[in-house]
Amino acid sequence: MLKAAPRVADIAPFHVMELLAKAQALEAEGRDIVHLEVGEPDFPTPETIVAAAQAFLAGGRVPYTSALGLPELRQAISDFYRSRHGIAVPASRIVVTAGASGALLLALACLARPGGEWLLTDPGYPCNRHFVRAFEGVPVSIPVSAAKHFQLGAADLAAHWNERSVGTLLASPANPTGTLIPPAELAAIADFVRSRDGALIVDEIYQGLCFDTDAQTALALGDACSENLFVVNSFSKYFGMTGWRLGWLVVPEAFVRDLEKLAQNLFIAPSTIAQHAALAAFAPETIAICEERRAEFCRRRDFLLPKLEELGFVIPARPDGAFYLYADCSRFTDDSQRFAHALLEKVGVAVTPGIDFGSHQAERHLRVSTTSPIERLGEAVERIRYFLGTV
Ligand SMILES: Cc1ncc(COP(=O)(O)O)c(C=O)c1O
Repeated sequence: MLKAAPRVADIAPFHVMELLAKAQALEAEGRDIVHLEVGEPDFPTPETIVAAAQAFLAGGRVPYTSALGLPELRQAISDFYRSRHGIAVPASRIVVTAGASGALLLALACLARPGGEWLLTDPGYPCNRHFVRAFEGVPVSIPVSAAKHFQLGAADLAAHWNERSVGTLLASPANPTGTLIPPAELAAIADFVRSRDGALIVDEIYQGLCFDTDAQTALALGDACSENLFVVNSFSKYFGMTGWRLGWLVVPEAFVRDLEKLAQNLFIAPSTIAQHAALAAFAPETIAICEERRAEFCRRRDFLLPKLEELGFVIPARPDGAFYLYADCSRFTDDSQRFAHALLEKVGVAVTPGIDFGSHQAERHLRVSTTSPIERLGEAVERIRYFLGTV
């Protein structure tokens, strides 16, 4: 009997999808559900971007672009690094991809090898370990604690590095915790990885959505690190373009040709419509819209975090960015998955159980997204208060 390859058995589904299906079934019955489980902004794509796509489509011709992306868009991303971060990233090193997902896929298609180990955080973005596994690599998930902002440091990497290690894949700010890697730690990580001739992949998809400080891109570490460093970013979150499927990958100069070959074969090219739309993403009018949304996500964090703490949840690491609160619910339960299902069934509040992000203390954590307006977050708080009175 034909069976899927063994690696597929190691790829876990999103547990939250089960919860989402249940939420949708309840909505179909007429129940009002507050969605705090989603991982995408609740805002529409900025109208400037939509207008650019419409204007392009009106021309009627939608051909493939170069596998590395539209030259104008690669240049626009390079210009953005200069204007936003004050650093020079040549357009030649920028590969436009199908979202951060496409960027991660390409980077790992290029770097992963059978049996080669990749150091990852637990908790962390779940797809990372599955991308590694899909290319026959070995994900090594290292438990990270709130005391270290749920991030790995150079010392952790040194403790786990061995002759099979190929690299590490980190996110800053991270999903599900929203925490940043401090710049000095990132520099130490880059030094360590380079000293081992390893690969450092830094996923900066939430970097546009930082609140208290403007996050520094790993690319600011300079030329000394550029031979080992792959930086992932996306139009999905800050630019509100999740469904357009567009992101980018900054690669060392020496890898551009390899990435081009892979991109040609795997995708031919990223979406032409999305790329033309994204040309409007860096216009001042668009940035103004995105900045207003960033401020709104910050207001939501500042609203919801103390309210959840007041209810008895513990949020041990204040998120620096993104739109998530990683909340310890151990005061109420030792099974966050059962808790999340009960919360949904009894009071119609959907949150993501920790198990979606790894196994380290997953049963005592929930991820709460701030992807609903403040009134709805307030409604969720009242419903959770009522629910806690009944458990
Ligand atoms: C940390 C992280 N990386 C990558 C992705 C994938 O994003 P994209 O829509 O750009 O493929 C996500 C999506 O939630 C994410 O949270």
